[in-house]
Amino acid sequence: MSYIEVQHNFKRYQAGDTEILANNDVSFSIEKGELAIILGASGAGKSTMLNILGGMDTNSSGNIIIDGENIANYNQLQLTNYRRNDIGFVFQFYNLIQNLTAKENVELAAEIVADALDPVQTLIDVGLKARVNNFPAELSGGEQQRVAIARAIAKNPKILLCDEPTGALDYQTGKNVLQIIANMSRNYGTTVIIVTHNSALAPIANRVIHFHDGQVTKVIQTKHPENIANIKW
Ligand SMILES: Nc1ncnc2c1ncn2[C@@H]1O[C@H](COP(=O)(O)OP(=O)(O)OP(=O)(O)O)[C@@H](O)[C@H]1O
Ligand SMILES: [Mg+2]
Repeated sequence: MSYIEVQHNFKRYQAGDTEILANNDVSFSIEKGELAIILGASGAGKSTMLNILGGMDTNSSGNIIIDGENIANYNQLQLTNYRRNDIGFVFQFYNLIQNLTAKENVELAAEIVADALDPVQTLIDVGLKARVNNFPAELSGGEQQRVAIARAIAKNPKILLCDEPTGALDYQTGKNVLQIIANMSRNYGTTVIIVTHNSALAPIANRVIHFHDGQVTKVIQTKHPENIANIKW
């Protein structure tokens, strides 16, 4: 069995009289330590899938097996512990706490887990040594996203989930941020899942899961992914 196994996942939303099938019988697997990309157009159901994988949302039916445990059967307390201990999440728009400094934002996340990494060291690792004591409003978008990555990484998560992590960034900053995220998989063996609509990112992944209209249309595996420095978009 793979580290992550999604089996016949359905997510239905009720919008007035109509039912939206955001995930319509989705199945795929991801191995431990892989960098996977979920690729698809707007509305394809990517964020829905990522939120279910991260325990932030529950599915309508299907199995979500993480390291042998079906989190689809978890109760609220189990889901809270799963989110807290196993998952790091990076959002498109950073979601930092505005009245806490970079260091305090990372510390807050580190405090809730048992085997956290050192918050300041994590900020240094993402290139923010000089910005540790700044507030989010004093940082550029790319710097704020690096704080958000440091916050996710400092928890030392088993799985790092990133929803359009470069969506709000310029080209070069986006590449730098992508490199930091990819290094988590390549250097530390963290399982990383990136959601994007940008097909140019596909070559950097071990596995690309194509989403269309709530369904997986194909899965492409690559033995030797491309270096981020070599891709263009
Ligand atoms: N809370 C909700 N209530 C009703 N419908 C929803 C809800 N969340 C998502 N949807 C619908 O489910 C479908 C999939 O949405 P989702 O956010 O997963 O797409 P996405 O692939 O992440 O798109 P994008 O690239 O624009 O972020 C869309 O049709 C969306 O309108
Ligand atoms: Mg989305």
